[in-house]
Amino acid sequence: MSLHTGVLLILMVTISSIQPTDYSRDANVEISSRCQKRVKRCGQFKPPKPEMGEMSCSFSARTCGFACDLICPTPEGKTALVLNQKRHGRDMYLCTAGNWKRRETPQTFCKAQWPVKEVRQNLHHVENLNGLVNKLLNTSYFYLGMASFYERADVALPGFSKLMTDLWSADQSHARDLMSYVNKRGGYITLYDIPRTPSHEVLLLKLSSRIGQAGVEMALQAAREVNEQVLELHKNATLPGDSNDPHLKHALEDGLLSSKVELIKKLADVDRRLHAFPEEDYAVGEYVLDQEQLG
Ligand SMILES: *[C@@H]1O[C@H](CO)[C@@H](O)[C@H](O)[C@H]1NC(C)=O
Ligand SMILES: *[C@@H]1O[C@H](CO)[C@@H](O)[C@H](O)[C@H]1NC(C)=O
Repeated sequence: MSLHTGVLLILMVTISSIQPTDYSRDANVEISSRCQKRVKRCGQFKPPKPEMGEMSCSFSARTCGFACDLICPTPEGKTALVLNQKRHGRDMYLCTAGNWKRRETPQTFCKAQWPVKEVRQNLHHVENLNGLVNKLLNTSYFYLGMASFYERADVALPGFSKLMTDLWSADQSHARDLMSYVNKRGGYITLYDIPRTPSHEVLLLKLSSRIGQAGVEMALQAAREVNEQVLELHKNATLPGDSNDPHLKHALEDGLLSSKVELIKKLADVDRRLHAFPEEDYAVGEYVLDQEQLG
């Protein structure tokens, strides 16, 4: 056995001991002894596990490292290489200081533009669910502004502030629950910009008159709008045909719909009672109702 064959054999043994991926075709490429030593120090190369898609790695004798291509799922369920970053299609892993390290480049990842295949049972409503999540966050932002407004020293309606805080917190958690629901069903949520709501500034202008009632009415209007959207989605999920989605229907019934009805009832009740006070009794009535909210 010539020295050359011996080296090659050792090399192949070394290589097969670090062999998790397909680079056998590179095995008879001459690998410098420096590279051999390096690779040996790093031991087995474990291809990284991306969040989505699969990594296909091969050893490159030229760079003495692993080049990994990311194979991403496509809507048709076929696989295709998707790069995420314009400049780099693959991730390089080099043996550095005894570890396989990714070279400093933007990392590749699959863009989740479409639902993942296996869980895409009935994603008919994902866009509408996304809209609803954003609507809830939008509305909760409005409640938050109102909660802060009623807390002002010159407004001093802590009960109304608490009511708005409760509404804020309810919509926040509904939005969060819906996001989890969508993720579970294999969809993706996109968050939009939330514009500031000037409604409490409008209220400020009326500071001397029925600001409790005006705010409750605005909140009622906002809650009704959200509820209408939920009901419409519920109806869509109930209709026969492609859009039929009993799972979603139940999820909406168990989560959003029941508590929305409660909230709307409560707001409508406060509104009705405030409304009933004539001008001369309004201040007292507002005070009483404000105190009630704290109880
Ligand atoms: C959020 O509220 C603003 C007004 O405050 C409105 O213009 C926008 O369309 C709303 N967005 C959603 C998703 O409801
Ligand atoms: C309900 O379905 C109709 C018709 O497909 C659609 O235009 C609408 O956006 C859907 N609404 C919701 C809230 O899902």
